[in-house]
Amino acid sequence: MNKILVTKPFLAPREEYETYFNKIWDNQWLTNMGPLAVELEEKLMAHIGVKNLLFVSNGTIALQMAIKALGLKGEIITTPFSFVATTHSIVWEGCTPVFVDIQIGSLNIDPKKIEEAITENTSAILATHIFGNPCDVEAIQKIADKHNLKVIYDAAHAFEINFKDKSIFEFGDISTCSLHATKFYHTGEGGLVIAKHKEVLKKLGYIRNHGLHEKEGFASIGTNAKNSEFHAALGLVNINYVGQILQKRKQLAEIYELQLQDKVKFQTWNNDASKNYCYFPVIFKTEQELLRVKEYLEQNNIFTRRYFYPSLASSLPYMPAVFLPNTESISTRCLCLPIYFDLPLSDAKKISELILECI
Ligand SMILES: Cc1ncc(COP(=O)(O)O)c(C=O)c1O
Repeated sequence: MNKILVTKPFLAPREEYETYFNKIWDNQWLTNMGPLAVELEEKLMAHIGVKNLLFVSNGTIALQMAIKALGLKGEIITTPFSFVATTHSIVWEGCTPVFVDIQIGSLNIDPKKIEEAITENTSAILATHIFGNPCDVEAIQKIADKHNLKVIYDAAHAFEINFKDKSIFEFGDISTCSLHATKFYHTGEGGLVIAKHKEVLKKLGYIRNHGLHEKEGFASIGTNAKNSEFHAALGLVNINYVGQILQKRKQLAEIYELQLQDKVKFQTWNNDASKNYCYFPVIFKTEQELLRVKEYLEQNNIFTRRYFYPSLASSLPYMPAVFLPNTESISTRCLCLPIYFDLPLSDAKKISELILECI
């Protein structure tokens, strides 16, 4: 079998990108909110159905900007089952992450456990819609309102997800997204920040471009989170393929679901949400079973990923390890199977058969 990786970036026909690259040469404008970046922001706002959106250089800086724009200090309650960038961003911004255990089914932070972790130093909740599955946004907002906390969603995996017919990016004070090459919809490198309030968007805009410039000085701190015209060009082409990408990923996921349903567990999806099939996580009975399957697939040239292992609660050099039973249980038993636009349906079938041979 040819080598199969867990994911592969989507690429449209080269000529389509070249049309946009020619525009870049005509405009002689390479970065700093150029015409293609502005066009992309407008197209994305229309596509997603949100108003306050900025295109930035990646999903990590998007998180850092969100924490900065909301002026967060002290402790931020967060999920230990996410990519390391979620926690790193909190620490990078001088705040302290406080991990709260996840739900065994949804794999998202458990709102029931958030309240007991709140102290007088808590300023916010930063939760990830893991693998695109929306958190219990209503319960989280209730807790935030009660305790006067800000809410940030790391929606890196949640492009094209709706909750109760609204974009999931509309929830929280700020939602962030990653448009990294491996994501469902990508711009090579890239990210988004989406703010609930215009005032916050304004701050995010200043932060993206080195702070607020005044005639003879600077009125606020900022960073460089601008993205280039080349990345915007990738995004302008790729946005036309979102429907096809979704369709293909759905077909692949349905094959895995049908073949494996009696042998493994799947993530319990939020009943009020759409799906984007950006990952295909399966939960094995034991870690031993997972390791057996992973190795057997590797012998067959198929490379899965243990997203997200080890858990952030037990593996960060700057934090004491905390034992959270659900997180530990899931992170040791969860394996993501290959899923991407170019993957032939027959390969998903073959991968499922190999897994079944093993368990
Ligand atoms: C949950 C999550 N948060 C944040 C990020 C960071 O995004 P980026 O790689 O665009 O910086 C990722 C990226 O993989 C992610 O999966």
